[in-house]
Amino acid sequence: MPLRPAFRVILLAGLACTWPLAAHAGDEKASAGRGAKMVKDMCARCHAVGLDGESTHKEAPPLRDIANRYPVDGLAEAFAEGIVVGHPDMPEFKLSPDAIADLLNYMRSLSLSSQTQ
Ligand code: HEC
Repeated sequence: MPLRPAFRVILLAGLACTWPLAAHAGDEKASAGRGAKMVKDMCARCHAVGLDGESTHKEAPPLRDIANRYPVDGLAEAFAEGIVVGHPDMPEFKLSPDAIADLLNYMRSLSLSSQTQ
């Protein structure tokens, strides 16, 4: 029997709050791999998405700089809300909790702290 819609909404809200705890260490690599593909598809036309290289859009900071500048977990909320950075060139993204987890796992893999571990 399919879940009633109202129940599904609550379930999703619960997932959004607990996803950082739910990520198992073993899944992180696969998740970061999915995140890498996402940023190539969605972000790379403006941001540099790898460990080196320049952004295509001159005002878009490389994602690795963003990952180093902010606590990556703090970005989760911004992505869940749709990123709004007050820049007309930056489209608004609405991502599912799973997609956000993948994106952030990839961002984490870019940050300096994770590279030194
Ligand atoms: C069409 C070009 C474009 C695309 C596509 C794009 N961005 Fe941006 N993004 C920008 C620009 C330009 C800025 C700088 C905005 C500013 O500083 O005012 C920016 C800023 C940001 C910031 C804020 C950085 C800061 O220091 O405040 C984040 C986070 C970000 N982008 C993440 C992403 C992610 C993740 C994706 C892919 C899902 C993405 N962007 C896709 C153009 C883009």
